[in-house]
Amino acid sequence: MVTVVFGARGNVGRHVATGLISKDDQVRLTSREPDTADFPPGAEVVAADLERPETLHATLEGAERVFLYAKPDGIDGFVAAAESAGVRHVVLLSSGAVLQSNAERNPIARMHTVVESAIAESGLEWTFIRPGMFATNALWWWQKSIRDEGAVRVPYADARTAPIHERDLAAIAVTALTEPGHRGHAYAVWGPESLTLRQQVRHIGEAIGREIAFEVISAEQAREELSQTMPSIGVEAVLAGWKAGTAAPPQVSTITEEITGRPAHTFAQWAKDHATDFR
Ligand SMILES: NC(=O)c1ccc[n+]([C@@H]2O[C@H](COP(=O)([O-])OP(=O)(O)OC[C@H]3O[C@@H](n4cnc5c(N)ncnc54)[C@H](OP(=O)(O)O)[C@@H]3O)[C@@H](O)[C@H]2O)c1
Repeated sequence: MVTVVFGARGNVGRHVATGLISKDDQVRLTSREPDTADFPPGAEVVAADLERPETLHATLEGAERVFLYAKPDGIDGFVAAAESAGVRHVVLLSSGAVLQSNAERNPIARMHTVVESAIAESGLEWTFIRPGMFATNALWWWQKSIRDEGAVRVPYADARTAPIHERDLAAIAVTALTEPGHRGHAYAVWGPESLTLRQQVRHIGEAIGREIAFEVISAEQAREELSQTMPSIGVEAVLAGWKAGTAAPPQVSTITEEITGRPAHTFAQWAKDHATDFR
């Protein structure tokens, strides 16, 4: 039984790939630029672009299951190609943004809603994973300034978020792909613990064995700084998420353990796993 993993070098996709390989699943890994990607040895690798449906027929041929990233521009072509190839089950990495009260006005929510709707209205079986903030965002926010200056600058030091380790999202996806009982389910995935930004930076400092200077700046200064490493759609989402985290604690959840049978990783563990990224 072949499982196609889109985005197999992405933060989450790469762990979906290794998780399936460790279960002896037959995987087909995709990238738009497979020659430049570093994939596990022995895996079948193909070039595919979700926004160019003509690349998808060969990619999906003979596949029964798919791990998918949300690409609204190509979604109708993906659905048509998947149905004609005989794919049975799609596990989509969606977003918790689709659950927010302002989802219609939120561009991140809209792009994921378009993809979810196209799949839900198709003949494909599906599982939607709807995460909150990824722990890997800390690389976008702070990797450069920690490496270059041993410092971070944030607008809301005591804002709380509940970061999710990408390995937990991948483990949920692998479970949903390989075990019964997950088809037709949409899982909101929040992180396991609520931490202030100051606490998160402290965990990174402990992981790299270095004190990190912590400076509080205005939201406007933060917008400028974040724009150097993130797309503007992400910058606005982050600033809104942090601001909300000053007013109310973030949602947390035990869903990783409920689905996979083992507890979610803490942020301290995430920081250890990524210590070399910050050194
Ligand atoms: N960051 C957050 O806090 C957060 C929260 C909730 C939801 N999300 C959602 O999670 C997703 C990002 O996950 P991530 O961090 O694992 O992503 P990532 O590390 O940026 O990886 C994205 C992957 O998608 C592949 N990709 C991009 N465009 C493609 C296309 N046109 N066709 C085929 N593959 C394509 C890339 O593969 P190649 O470059 O190799 O082709 C890459 O491996 C987004 O949909 C985001 O909205 C993020």
